[in-house]
Amino acid sequence: MLIFTKIKSLQQEIKSLKDGTTIGFVPTMGALHEGHLSLVENAKKENDIVVVSIFVNPTQFDNTDDLINYPKTIEKDLSLLKSFNCDIVFTPTPEEIYADNIKSESFDFDGLEFQMEGKFRAGHFNGVGTIVERLFEIVKPHKAYFGEKDFQQIQIIRKMAEKKNLPVQIISCPIHREKDGLAMSSRNTRLTEVQRAAASFIYETLKKAKIQFGTKNASDVLKWVENEFKNHPLFTLEYFEIADEETLLPVKTKNPTKKYRAFIAVFAGKVRLIDNIRL
Ligand code: PAF
Repeated sequence: MLIFTKIKSLQQEIKSLKDGTTIGFVPTMGALHEGHLSLVENAKKENDIVVVSIFVNPTQFDNTDDLINYPKTIEKDLSLLKSFNCDIVFTPTPEEIYADNIKSESFDFDGLEFQMEGKFRAGHFNGVGTIVERLFEIVKPHKAYFGEKDFQQIQIIRKMAEKKNLPVQIISCPIHREKDGLAMSSRNTRLTEVQRAAASFIYETLKKAKIQFGTKNASDVLKWVENEFKNHPLFTLEYFEIADEETLLPVKTKNPTKKYRAFIAVFAGKVRLIDNIRL
């Protein structure tokens, strides 16, 4: 497994690949878990080589504490990637990516950016768009793999690729869950033992909301979820939304031809967790 920290040397390696070599790309912020590794496995199956980037992108954090406390486990990440036969790892510094201007560009994602996460994380999707476009430029992948835990992020990246005509196929992969149902996330390691033991409550609530959506309208399900969290001793609900998978707009009246998903963001102390379920 080759490890690069410099754009130039990574690009030299990529240029030296035989013509027609297909590149599968898995962008990550490290602190890898089984969810990331399943993306690597999918990328391995569908491409000649796999490139993984590990870069905690400062411009997508709206909260400095979250950036500082984001788990960093680089040695463990590298040995996991090696054991999964990853071909190339790219671990640049912020200066390598942004030089002396650590700033996002401004994107128009046709309104997808104003829903859910966009309402609570100012500038987040501009940061994601900036880094993902930059990484695509550097790595020039044929296919790029993203987990559905960040479903809104996938839709936004698809929109960016479509609007900018980027020559990359965006592949979405199902959420990986712990045995008790908690969606795998690098942030889970920041939960206290008590929070972790109770955290299956989030997915349990999503599953119950899904059943309710079969017979009730969205606003009733919303009220029910808000009530479930109202007096919860450990978790604070930031939002629960039932939205159209394509437009991410909240559902008003159910339309049987549309696909819907329920989205949730919850605070466990200072740790913010998100999850979603197809309805
Ligand atoms: O999903 C993530 O880990 C990040 O948002 C990504 C796509 C690697 C961009 O920094």
